[in-house]
Amino acid sequence: DKDGHKHFMAKEIAEQPMAIDRTLHAYLSETDDITLPDELDFTKIDRLTMVACGTGYYACMVGKYWFEQIAKMPVEVDVASEFRYREPPVSDRTLALFASQSGETADTLAALRYMTGKADQIVGLVNVSESSIARESDVVLPLYAGPEISVASTKAFTCQLTILLIMALQAAQQRGIALPEGLPSDLRAIPGLIHQTLMLEDEITATSRELATARDIIFLGRGHLYPLALEGALKLKELSYIHAEGYASGELKHGPIALIEDTVPVVVLAPRDVLFEKTISNMQEVMARGGRVVLITDAEGARISGEGTSEVITMPQVPNALAPILYAIPAQLLAYHTAVAKGTDVDQPRNLAKSVTVE
Ligand code: M6R
Repeated sequence: DKDGHKHFMAKEIAEQPMAIDRTLHAYLSETDDITLPDELDFTKIDRLTMVACGTGYYACMVGKYWFEQIAKMPVEVDVASEFRYREPPVSDRTLALFASQSGETADTLAALRYMTGKADQIVGLVNVSESSIARESDVVLPLYAGPEISVASTKAFTCQLTILLIMALQAAQQRGIALPEGLPSDLRAIPGLIHQTLMLEDEITATSRELATARDIIFLGRGHLYPLALEGALKLKELSYIHAEGYASGELKHGPIALIEDTVPVVVLAPRDVLFEKTISNMQEVMARGGRVVLITDAEGARISGEGTSEVITMPQVPNALAPILYAIPAQLLAYHTAVAKGTDVDQPRNLAKSVTVE
């Protein structure tokens, strides 16, 4: 039941504050101690390998930034369809993590089986607890997102991010590295911040109506928002059938800038952080070539970015480490409302299945 929403996707986007609350309840105590299972031991491994498909893969990519920065751990991330056939050498001091909403994705399951007996531990990050990936993992971390019906993944993604961040904090703690200030307690603010972001829906709908006339759209992000640019582009193409590509902002001048003209909107995901100035200069390069920029930033970012941006979506201020979780929301809403404006089948996009059980 869609609970008064027009589509399951709209319902699932709106459910995210609640879903993340449940996830936090499962993995943080009332006094903000991490309550991940004790078997999850980051002291006996020296590398983390994360494997997934689609949106789960982008969650793992964000996880890489967190594990490297917060826990100073080497991390490898790969799409399951490549990983399984590459037959990479695996040290027994590897923790292997498989992220899958359905827990049934064929390539991810095959990659898990490849790692079984080679890695120190197999961890499954799944939404469906009685799935194949859950059954075959040594440690199962349920997402607690609740059933996700829409083919486009939304709340499973933000719950995956939440758990990956808590895992990175746990890894740091076990390895004797001081946690970044404010964490994990700042995570408590996320449901409220998502709620505030959802209030921007009318503004995002107006922007989406304009995007709906484009044939190509580029998404840019830097650092831990680079995977969000990829996720924004994936969501937009699967729902609205508009060709969209995500790039690391710094890659712009290595090719994609050739595509820039006034008919190709560029969506820039850039909270005001240490990398902000660099992204703004990429944005100016786009504008100098007549490109249309939609900047998604916070109040401070909006203030410094200056004139010329076609559109600014002003997000609530968020602690830096948490930005990828919050910036998932405008990416989802843009894709959703662009699809609604185009009249496509939002919950059941053409050619796609919710669970990809064949390779
Ligand atoms: O169930 P999984 O998380 O393993 O599914 C992986 C992908 O098929 C999935 O994320 C897909 O990319 C979504 N349709 C994205 O919205």
